[in-house]
Amino acid sequence: MWFFRSPQVVFGDEALSYLSSLPIRRAAIITDRYLLGTELPERVRGALPEGAESLAVGDVSAEPPLSEMTAHLEKVRGFSPDWFVAAGGGSSIDTAKILFALYERPDLTVYDITPLVQLGLRTKSRLIAVPTTSGTGSECTWAAVLSEENEKRKHELASPEILPDYAILDPSLVVSLPPEQTRNTAADAVAHAVEAYGSTWHNPFSDAMAEKALELISENIEGVMRDPGGLGPRGQVHIGASMAGLSFSNSQIGLVHALGHSLGATFKLPHGKAVGLLLPYVVDFNYDACPERYDRLNLLIPPKYRGRRLSDSLRSLLGMMGVARSVRDAGVEESAYASSMDTLVTLASESTGMVTNPKDSGSEDLRNIFIKAFDGD
Ligand SMILES: [Fe+2]
Repeated sequence: MWFFRSPQVVFGDEALSYLSSLPIRRAAIITDRYLLGTELPERVRGALPEGAESLAVGDVSAEPPLSEMTAHLEKVRGFSPDWFVAAGGGSSIDTAKILFALYERPDLTVYDITPLVQLGLRTKSRLIAVPTTSGTGSECTWAAVLSEENEKRKHELASPEILPDYAILDPSLVVSLPPEQTRNTAADAVAHAVEAYGSTWHNPFSDAMAEKALELISENIEGVMRDPGGLGPRGQVHIGASMAGLSFSNSQIGLVHALGHSLGATFKLPHGKAVGLLLPYVVDFNYDACPERYDRLNLLIPPKYRGRRLSDSLRSLLGMMGVARSVRDAGVEESAYASSMDTLVTLASESTGMVTNPKDSGSEDLRNIFIKAFDGD
């Protein structure tokens, strides 16, 4: 038996204005430090129903550490929201999911957020995600990533109950995304679509989302890189990124994310940068386990980027976007990389991404992919 889980997705021009039609009285707006200084919090406030009160929790870090949660939670509890509005990138949305769960259930810790425990959320509040990047897919998933600063690792938390009630996809919120974040988050979305499609838990619903996501992103990302302010291509990539999120949320990610979380945590690389550079290497590794599926995906990439194999096409597409082609290109020093190799392999092998990858892999395989990715092809 399978489920297809999705928030209600509101998309298109002026999608943010949908907030005014919801029965919101007290909104906790969760955003990050950078966005707090922009017009975003005011735009969200302006879209709330008349008379609604709001509190901005605006000091969420990028890939937030566990230690931040206590302070955020105190603020939230003091305000007693009836809705959480996560407005920002993946870190803000992931933080809102965790705060929502712990506000609903003060007796829990983050480690209780697992699919194995029925949490009984939504007795006091609801959760809305308004992404301001196009890539993490967090607005459409029931996962949240938290970094553990002392252990230099990332915790992958998951529960169907932290899936947002609404995902609001408004392209006007992503037009000012800087090129570096546009590139990294789009690379992440491409990785989500490819990993979901190759997952051993793939199913017809996740396949449909992955195929369309890859098509929308690969057809429109060049236009976005060339004209970042163009609402049309931005909107298509924005929708594609959420579809990629729905895809992996309903089938699982794989080895790219296992290796990417490990590389990102060890060398403090942004998530999309790490998974984007690793994606073609893992696709090469996996190819013989699912050749027909990868060949089918390859046909969805526009002819100008399409090579003989999916990994060739991805190299070409990601190269156009300016994604690093190797770990060295991403700025990691060779000696530090070599001395961290055991840690990289151990962290990757503990990731949930190992479970559903189309090809089984042992520590030697992971080490070989990491070594190959250092200098590239
Ligand atoms: Fe990702």
